[in-house]
Amino acid sequence: MRIIFFAGKGGVGKTSVAAATGLKAALLKKRTIILSLDVAHSLSDIFDLDRDLLDHNKGKPVSVSENLWIQELDIQEEIENNWGAIHKYVSTLFNTSGLDEILAEELAVLPGMEEVSLLLYINRYVRQQEYDVILLDCAPTGESLRFISVPTTLEWYIKKIFRVEKAVARYVRPVAKKLYDIPLPGNDYFDAIEHLFQRLQGVDQILTDPAVTSVRLVTNPEKIVLKETQRAFMYFYLYKMHIDAVIMNRVFPEEVNDRYFSRWRKSQEKYLSQAKEYFTPVPILQVNLFQDEVLGPARLTRLADALYGDRNPLDHFFLGQAFQLSKKNGEYHLRLKLPFVDKQNIELNRSSDELIVRVGSFKMHLLLPRQVAAAPSVRARLDDQYLQVYFGGDKNG
Ligand SMILES: Nc1ncnc2c1ncn2[C@@H]1O[C@H](COP(=O)(O)OP(=O)(O)OP(=O)(O)O)[C@@H](O)[C@H]1O
Ligand SMILES: [Mg+2]
Repeated sequence: MRIIFFAGKGGVGKTSVAAATGLKAALLKKRTIILSLDVAHSLSDIFDLDRDLLDHNKGKPVSVSENLWIQELDIQEEIENNWGAIHKYVSTLFNTSGLDEILAEELAVLPGMEEVSLLLYINRYVRQQEYDVILLDCAPTGESLRFISVPTTLEWYIKKIFRVEKAVARYVRPVAKKLYDIPLPGNDYFDAIEHLFQRLQGVDQILTDPAVTSVRLVTNPEKIVLKETQRAFMYFYLYKMHIDAVIMNRVFPEEVNDRYFSRWRKSQEKYLSQAKEYFTPVPILQVNLFQDEVLGPARLTRLADALYGDRNPLDHFFLGQAFQLSKKNGEYHLRLKLPFVDKQNIELNRSSDELIVRVGSFKMHLLLPRQVAAAPSVRARLDDQYLQVYFGGDKNG
């Protein structure tokens, strides 16, 4: 089983890269499914599929070629199936608070609800062993990273709060009904949460298993896109997932050398070298800007060739994590592997929310979570090949 997430900012090329990878995987005789949440149906458009066929199979896997399926989830239906009673309760609550019913229903879609459907499918497909490869064409990172934490959050909620709340609701409901206008959740709400929790069981192990799952961050050599990629880089590590490649898409090829594009070329070069400092030691796979849109199997195959060359696209291009961040006794601890360091010349600097590590001519930028970056003190120590950085309160100076 192999699972790859393709994540990145809006419009960087996630769907194209996921589709190209799918084609290659299918050629290797792996039963491959690409899952997407995109309401705009870009995936079926990229494969140039017949609309009628898709409308008939709404939300279900559709065969694209031998060993390759795509599944564009129907968000409305997924929410109804997976969150039905929960969504209903939250929207009743909003509606009671005076919001218009339609608006209440819309707002009651909580962050992560849509994407959790992806996790449910992953869990199901892994157990059924119907496919060898699952590729996920993720929603743009800006909005969608939180869903990965849903299984852990739900587990915490079920263990710490849920059972008490359920018992309290049972006793309080008859009394509360007479006293308040606010509806308390009914049994169906609690059953729905419990059911969802059961169906998500085990998915976090799958997501964090380095032998199975990796993330490929798709990006472009542009300032704002790179910044968001840096943030995603950090967040996936916080969720203990493994990133095995950064895909640098839409790089101007050598032959683009007329004057009009010269500034673009220069700025791309600058961001390409910055990207190395941001994502080291995770490899960066570079893909040129094509002369045209990437549509249809022939161009997708060209994209896959440009991206992977002779490599097997299902390999793990990087094993392990570039860094680990944890919190202990109120202190944040960053552990960073620097295989070639020489004790004398490590230099640490902080600039707003980044930590800059310099070792000789090697330089690395790490974007830090806000709380960590705000810690008043930093100290570092070198153990073997690991740089250990501690971010603490003012006591430690
Ligand atoms: N290397 C490339 N050269 C030329 N065009 C490209 C390249 N990669 C992607 N494109 C084109 O850029 C557009 C956006 O790509 P794509 O839909 O894959 O991005 P996305 O990240 O999935 O976007 P969204 O966030 O909207 O889902 C498409 O028209 C695609 O054909
Ligand atoms: Mg897309």
